[in-house]
Amino acid sequence: MKVEVKQVELAESGADLLVVGLADGGEMPAPIAAASGADTAKPGFKKLSLLRPQEFPPVLVVGLGDREELDAERLRVAAAVAAKEAARLEATSLAWALPEGDDPSAGIDALVTGTILATYRFNRFKSGAGDDPPPLLDSLTLLAPAELQGAAEAARIAAEAQNRARDLQGTPANVATPTFLAARAEEIAAGFESVIAEVLGRPELEEKKMGGILAVSQGGPQEPKLIVLRYSGGGSGPTLGLVGKGVTFDTGGISLKPGAGMQEMKMDMSGAAAVLEAVAAIAELELPVDLIAVVPSTENMPSGTAIKPGDIITQYNGTTVEVNNTDAEGRLILADALAYAVELGAERLVDLATLTGAVVIALGSTYAAVISNDDALAAEVSEAGERSGELVWRLPLHPEYKELMKGTVADLSNLGKKRKAGTITAGSFLEEFVGGTPWAHVDIAGTAWDVGRPYVGSGASGFGVRLLVELARRHA
Ligand code: BES
Ligand code: MN
Ligand code: ZN
Repeated sequence: MKVEVKQVELAESGADLLVVGLADGGEMPAPIAAASGADTAKPGFKKLSLLRPQEFPPVLVVGLGDREELDAERLRVAAAVAAKEAARLEATSLAWALPEGDDPSAGIDALVTGTILATYRFNRFKSGAGDDPPPLLDSLTLLAPAELQGAAEAARIAAEAQNRARDLQGTPANVATPTFLAARAEEIAAGFESVIAEVLGRPELEEKKMGGILAVSQGGPQEPKLIVLRYSGGGSGPTLGLVGKGVTFDTGGISLKPGAGMQEMKMDMSGAAAVLEAVAAIAELELPVDLIAVVPSTENMPSGTAIKPGDIITQYNGTTVEVNNTDAEGRLILADALAYAVELGAERLVDLATLTGAVVIALGSTYAAVISNDDALAAEVSEAGERSGELVWRLPLHPEYKELMKGTVADLSNLGKKRKAGTITAGSFLEEFVGGTPWAHVDIAGTAWDVGRPYVGSGASGFGVRLLVELARRHA
């Protein structure tokens, strides 16, 4: 989408549709306030009123609700509601008058983000035969001081990266294989001099003894891949390691999942999608940080060669693990990836993973869970999430949770006892592989899909892309 910021009169924006926000107790820009019908415009949050003044293109008034409660999240939602109405009206260009607020660049960011995310469609597999698709919104003008162009551009880059992550999430597992994700990583590296990709295939994983990823992949024919992207932005801070779970389809393996809803497990690579596209966005933004991204990717399939409950594997760092449930596969591949990221030089680690069903029960789609061995890093992740609207809520670590993950005959079990604290025990397992490096694990099983907010709606959400970009900004 084309995004530009210019300070012109409403009537001169050149857009098909003008959008103004109206808060309770607030005012509309003078020329609109004087238009006929303006006095009936509704300020209630998300309420829409369409005015057709003679001297302007149509004006959509979006209610912003109580002025005191107006924040970035409300603006993202207002922008989404406006973008959808624009689509219904078949407008292809929008001009938003930036509502007054104390942080204009955050306001611009929210409007651009909400518009771009709400306009997203996943059409790759629609043949389109017979229907006549309505024109899509292709340009957004923000009526605001021109010095805000940089903020608008940065928001566009991050939101478009998020939409690319949604494409990866939505792409089915017969197309989005580990090899496909590796090719996407190589494409990202080819696009930026500051990024290099390295992909380990089965022979290299065997040579390095990455027992977790090998074990999960042995049930199916798809080649596992461990994808590494390094971004050198010339940072002076610690090297940030990003790790994303890339299970391209999770059947559960021999501990097979129930059939109903299993098709959604194509999204079990949502952490990988977010990490890959966040690196692309960070490189495009040229943020002054150094990153190492590690994405372990495999399918989790049942077969005669699949790993079985009770099998014992040796992870990359030498820890032995009893695989008591083959559906707890994410932690096995992340264990290798986290240890490898530390070895490659990551000094802070953040992993994103659709790791547990338990987090969906605990926090729904509103908050992701964060589990961390480091208060400062946990706080940074929380603040980045507040800023981007990708909220996270911290859950504790405790030696008693570690106790639940001890193996009977091996060092660890991949399955906790009596289903206690499923999200925390999974995080607690991962902690064994970071070797004391400050680390934050973000369980996105509830927030990666079907979030239901107006700007992400149903299906893939791309959760985590803007959070990681924000985190990288804070590290710069
Ligand atoms: N990929 C799933 C978790 C998941 C659940 C993601 C719902 C998205 C939506 C993960 O691999 C899994 O199967 N976890 C098991 C772990 C259990 C066997 C300890 C779970 O949560 O049931
Ligand atoms: Mn699983
Ligand atoms: Zn999984």
